[in-house]
Amino acid sequence: MAKKILVVDDEKKMLRVIELSLTEENYEVFLASSVKTAKESIFENDIDLIISDLKMPEETGLDFLKWLNENGFAIPVIMVTAFATVETAVESMKLGAVDYIIKPFKLIELKQTVSRYLFCKEESKKEENILLKKKHRRKFREFIGSSEKIIKIKELAKKSAKTTANILITGETGTGKEILAELIHNLSDRRDKPLIKVNCTSIPFELIESELFGHVKGAYTHAYTDKEGKFEIANGGTIFLDEIGSMKPEAQVKILRVIQEKEFQRVGGNTNIKVDVRLISATNENLQKAIKEGRFREDLYYRLKVFQINIPPLREHKEDLEELTNFFLSKFKTDYGIEKVEFSKKALQKIFDYNWLGNIRELENIIEQAVILSEGNLIEPDDIIIESQQYIDGTDDSLIDLPDTGIKLEEIEKKLLLQALSKSNGNQTKAAGLLGISRSALRYRMEKHKIPFK
Ligand SMILES: Nc1ncnc2c1ncn2[C@@H]1O[C@H](COP(=O)(O)OP(=O)(O)OP(=O)(O)O)[C@@H](O)[C@H]1O
Ligand SMILES: [Mg+2]
Repeated sequence: MAKKILVVDDEKKMLRVIELSLTEENYEVFLASSVKTAKESIFENDIDLIISDLKMPEETGLDFLKWLNENGFAIPVIMVTAFATVETAVESMKLGAVDYIIKPFKLIELKQTVSRYLFCKEESKKEENILLKKKHRRKFREFIGSSEKIIKIKELAKKSAKTTANILITGETGTGKEILAELIHNLSDRRDKPLIKVNCTSIPFELIESELFGHVKGAYTHAYTDKEGKFEIANGGTIFLDEIGSMKPEAQVKILRVIQEKEFQRVGGNTNIKVDVRLISATNENLQKAIKEGRFREDLYYRLKVFQINIPPLREHKEDLEELTNFFLSKFKTDYGIEKVEFSKKALQKIFDYNWLGNIRELENIIEQAVILSEGNLIEPDDIIIESQQYIDGTDDSLIDLPDTGIKLEEIEKKLLLQALSKSNGNQTKAAGLLGISRSALRYRMEKHKIPFK
């Protein structure tokens, strides 16, 4: 019998996206646009799993979770949350949510999370494998962009690919660090050898040594056989150390040693193993700051960044938006077998006006959802589900679009002070209130900027 999933979200379009993608997997899907209707649905249907938005205008996802707890419903809940409210999502896990996903999410990620909690391990493994196969159908992923900044990055990638030097890729989340690492590997002479990816956050420290360097039989209680580590598997090819900033200092020493000596021993072993591996690492952390804080070894940092490639955030190469948008549109049209669909002028405008804090990943995910939502041949602005708090539409003044040069914080501060004072007719208490600072802080700043007191 089909498993029953209840989806709760005040955003109708979001409900529709999730419904479409889950019915495709043969689940029975129930929708609720408020916690109130969700509660009714719980009583009427025998729900196996709940997917709930966190931020809703009346009762929130957290309220719902508390209510489920108080009423003894042991139904797994997956929280859906915006980038900006991840902390609350973590809090929701403390209240008993089994997992959370961050909006905008990839539909495959949603499906995987759902199957993980609905099926026993074996079954969900099978499902995940099928999904993963779908995901990896495209062997070479294209690195899109032709702005000056991206061209420079591509040139640097080509140049560095020809060498064996270690490469450090930096950039905000979703800017394309992993896909760039793939490009470099494919441009190098090592393209026919493995590219092995290691995510430094996901491996617990106790396992990282054996994961990277392997172990010999008997090295641990459960080491029944010899095991090759990632460095051996990658021999002749490339190792991609992702999120290197989160690697523990104990593991950093080990990496430093392989870089210096080009050889290592398996855990518990006593023979030296020589490998020829090119190292590409990536991080969205500021490693220099991590060094200052004593979390990252300076000597390793310099070893890793013989070439350093920094990918700028999407808002700094908006010239590529059109090309990227077209690329993702045609990719998802193919994936979903949709022949004719395009963006309306207004929808494109909405994409161009947005500041893309989640970068290219966010753009890709939003376009996938828009393609699914579109009815007829046109994608309308409503099909583009953008979290309102990040959207610069003229009514949101929490984000200021700063010009590249010429304006200083001091000037902005002075302007704000003058604006607040004029709005409040020189009443300092009111002006301070408008700026959210104390009256004495206001007076201090007025003096600093030589603004006369009335
Ligand atoms: N230049 C690009 N051309 C095409 N697709 C891109 C490009 N940059 C990023 N993408 C797509 O955006 C998504 C995120 O990219 P990627 O995983 O490389 O980001 P990342 O920088 O490693 O992010 P994180 O720091 O969060 O791990 C991927 O699905 C990738 O295919
Ligand atoms: Mg990454």
